[in-house]
Amino acid sequence: MPVIVLVGAQWGDEGKGKATDLLGDRLDYVVKFNGGNNAGHTVVIKGEKYALHLLPSGILTPGVTPVIGNGVVVDLAVLFQEIDGLEARGIDTSRLRISANAHVIPSYNRSLDKVSERYLGARRIGTTGRGIGPTYADKMNRMGVRIQDLFDESILRQKVEAALSFKNQVLSKIYNRQAVKPEDVVKELLSYVDRLRPYVGDTALELSEALDAGKVVLCEAGQATLLDVDHGTYPFVTSSNATAGGACTGSGIPPTRIDRVVAVLKAFTSRVGEGPFPTELHDKFGDYLREVGHEYGTTTGRPRRIGWLDLVIGRYAQRINGVTDFALTKLDNYDGLDEIPVCVAYDVNGVRHDEMPINQTDFHHAIPIFETLPGWKQDISGCRTFEDLPKDAQHFVEFVEQRLGARVSIVGVGPGREAVIERHSVLGDA
Ligand code: GDP
Ligand code: IMO
Ligand code: MG
Repeated sequence: MPVIVLVGAQWGDEGKGKATDLLGDRLDYVVKFNGGNNAGHTVVIKGEKYALHLLPSGILTPGVTPVIGNGVVVDLAVLFQEIDGLEARGIDTSRLRISANAHVIPSYNRSLDKVSERYLGARRIGTTGRGIGPTYADKMNRMGVRIQDLFDESILRQKVEAALSFKNQVLSKIYNRQAVKPEDVVKELLSYVDRLRPYVGDTALELSEALDAGKVVLCEAGQATLLDVDHGTYPFVTSSNATAGGACTGSGIPPTRIDRVVAVLKAFTSRVGEGPFPTELHDKFGDYLREVGHEYGTTTGRPRRIGWLDLVIGRYAQRINGVTDFALTKLDNYDGLDEIPVCVAYDVNGVRHDEMPINQTDFHHAIPIFETLPGWKQDISGCRTFEDLPKDAQHFVEFVEQRLGARVSIVGVGPGREAVIERHSVLGDA
């Protein structure tokens, strides 16, 4: 029966993959409901590192059925690379299900993503270049190609020709690139059909039946609250709904079936790509946290921008997602600091803001108001209960909890699957 939605509270890379993996053996299904291979989740199991982009993190747990929901955009080359990579390491991927309604990222959208970023110059978004934006734009424009189209060659040809009759004009006349031949795109997409067929189905129906049978489903977001196309720092966002509402539209699970919403909140903040970032650090503390936290993009390898924890954003995430439980990750990365500033509000042109400013210009100009908490100067990576934590680390968690308005149920103290403190069961009374 229970459905748990798991989202990122900040700008991504909070440790969603690890949190999903932690819950893995209590789950029957893990559904990715938005985004595509712009995501990068690193999961460490028994010292072995797995980097997942398109496949839901649940794929690493035997017995979990991973689902790519209708809200996802699928790069088929990446899908099969990732499947082959995991199979080669002994992970069984045969249970994977893919929605027939998910959209495909055709190669021309990868090209358009890259050339349009170059064209924007200083106004670029800093996308991952994976074709995410153009593919969601096609979906909304009703000129997208869906997984199911691959099983009807004449429909596929019609759709690709229709899309390219427009896109080739853009590619050649605006961006001065070569036109793409529809036949080449169709041929590439058809080359995946036989491998794809066994995975594809009506996943919304399958999930509904699973829930009726009492199964436990976790819907795992890619990206995060402030990268959400509606609720994030637009236009410096991704092109999908990464917040809890997106779990319904992106999976076909209705809102009335959702029991709990877990938001993963990193103990500091990071951001990849362009856009406003009030608590961003340009000093030795930023460099320090980037190094101890290994804060380099899983997908693009870019150094992540780093800042102090921002509880205005945390509260916003709580409100927009209806968070019932927070997972506070990477607390161990503070082990070496004497004191830890935490942003509790903003000053915008002399006015205090306890909530996210309504307009983006104010957010750009927001100056953080900090409260400084004492550090603990001690290695906490071996702590497994809340009581094991030094008093100052306990105080940090309680401070955050009190300001967020939802309980902190999970505390991460290291990258490994075992390096975690579970204070409350997030599946609990669901
Ligand atoms: P995701 O995109 O939200 O799944 O996060 P990423 O995998 O991109 O980035 C999170 C990184 O932090 C990964 O390298 C994880 O292995 C690591 N990580 C997750 N939780 C913890 C934690 O509690 N402590 C430490 N030190 N690392 C963590
Ligand atoms: P996970 O799931 C961090 C950022 C990009 C860029 C913006 C738009 O690992 O948390 P896109 O390619 O999606 O059109 O890029 O969004 N971005 C992410 N940043 N973590 C991610 O995913 C991201 N996915 C996209 O850097 O600023
Ligand atoms: Mg990531």
